[in-house]
Amino acid sequence: SRRGLLGLFGAGAAGAVVGAAGGAGVAMAATGALGGAEASAAAYDFHGVHQAGITTPAQDRLHFAAFDVSDTLDRTGLVELLTDWTDAAARLTQGLEVEDGGAVGGSDVAPPADTGEALGLPAAGLTITFGFGPTLFTDAAGVDRFGLAARRPPALEALPRFQGDALKPEWTGGDLCVQACADDPQVAVHAIRNLSRIAFGRASLRWSQLGFGRTSSTSTAQSTPRNLFGFKDGTANVKAEEREALAEHVWVDDGDEPAWLAGGSYLVARKIRMVIESWDRVQLGEQERLVGRTKGEGAPLSGGTESTAPDFEAEGATGAPLIPTDAHVRLAHASANGGVRMLRRGYNFVDGNDELGRLDAGLFFLSFQRSPEQFVTVQRSLAADALNEYLKHVGSAIFAVPGGIRPGEHVGQALFT
Ligand code: HEM
Repeated sequence: SRRGLLGLFGAGAAGAVVGAAGGAGVAMAATGALGGAEASAAAYDFHGVHQAGITTPAQDRLHFAAFDVSDTLDRTGLVELLTDWTDAAARLTQGLEVEDGGAVGGSDVAPPADTGEALGLPAAGLTITFGFGPTLFTDAAGVDRFGLAARRPPALEALPRFQGDALKPEWTGGDLCVQACADDPQVAVHAIRNLSRIAFGRASLRWSQLGFGRTSSTSTAQSTPRNLFGFKDGTANVKAEEREALAEHVWVDDGDEPAWLAGGSYLVARKIRMVIESWDRVQLGEQERLVGRTKGEGAPLSGGTESTAPDFEAEGATGAPLIPTDAHVRLAHASANGGVRMLRRGYNFVDGNDELGRLDAGLFFLSFQRSPEQFVTVQRSLAADALNEYLKHVGSAIFAVPGGIRPGEHVGQALFT
């Protein structure tokens, strides 16, 4: 096992289990002789009340994948796929190899079950979070492939078109999603690669996205990182410590419909291209007015420090609001959206450059909310966002993320029972 190999590298596998937000446990393995990124030996339990990878302290790296289920798969086959994925995810998140004997197998005549590039690496805080897209319930042609149509959450449908959307089909939609987050990119990529391999013939990759430099903090213990505009991102996020806010804004409640989604959430993914070259020619003061916060400290333009609440009523000497009426934080804030909040968990991306020599860069926005309506409300409010001049939404997807499971169950089991 990878953990066995860890011993050879001087890293002890034993560790205390400490409480983690969301009901998932985290085993901290001693880091031994490993240093730098390799020292990230956190291992989050795959089982728990909620799926890990939502309130888990945001890791530094992402590999996100949307899959389409094969037309030849039936309901039994889908359950088998989810069971195989569950078994693999439970092992991978503990820093273990994918086992022989699964769908891929392994013998003298078959390739190894695990592809091997994570051998010797610790778990690196890997979380694997699964979601179900609207087309899993009823496909594009209206066909109920898996007998799930009656169980589709009414709110789970493709997001409406928003002003300025320039969506590309190749970064949009998906029957299933897998969000793999880790502090080592090799570990995140290994997870998606092996889950894709296990799915061979049953589900295939529709699109995927690598991300780096988390653009959110999901725990008050984390420092606030910066996005590619150079601004602190995640300051006013819903954090793991805010139990009441999580219950109100993030987790689907026992009393919500449908019951099978209790303990889950809705995941929105938006691939947002940033027009970096234009942004880099904007004066600092103007950049700050577009966002509504200072670039260095991340304080609201109404004054104070990063943690000071913005005062949207505050006016300057000329009587103009200190936080402009079209500033991003004003329009995204709960006060502009009927009290709505969300848990953001996005990542920066740079996918090389385009034919004009501009960086193909941006924010891979991910948010978790109790209802898709929360995202729709805020995104509609952002139609007036001054930042839009420097942004282009090119990809979009929505998924219902089922609650967590106990050992012996498969992910999403409540949907099928
Ligand atoms: C806040 C940047 C897209 C929702 C912020 C902040 C920055 C920022 C710098 C202030 C720090 C913080 O509280 O995190 C960006 C950039 C975007 C983007 C560069 C696009 C590339 C979006 C989208 C949404 C969104 C698409 C949702 C539809 C929010 C929310 C806040 C926020 C809810 C917190 C506002 C508050 O309560 O003060 N964003 N954002 N952002 N953003 Fe964005």
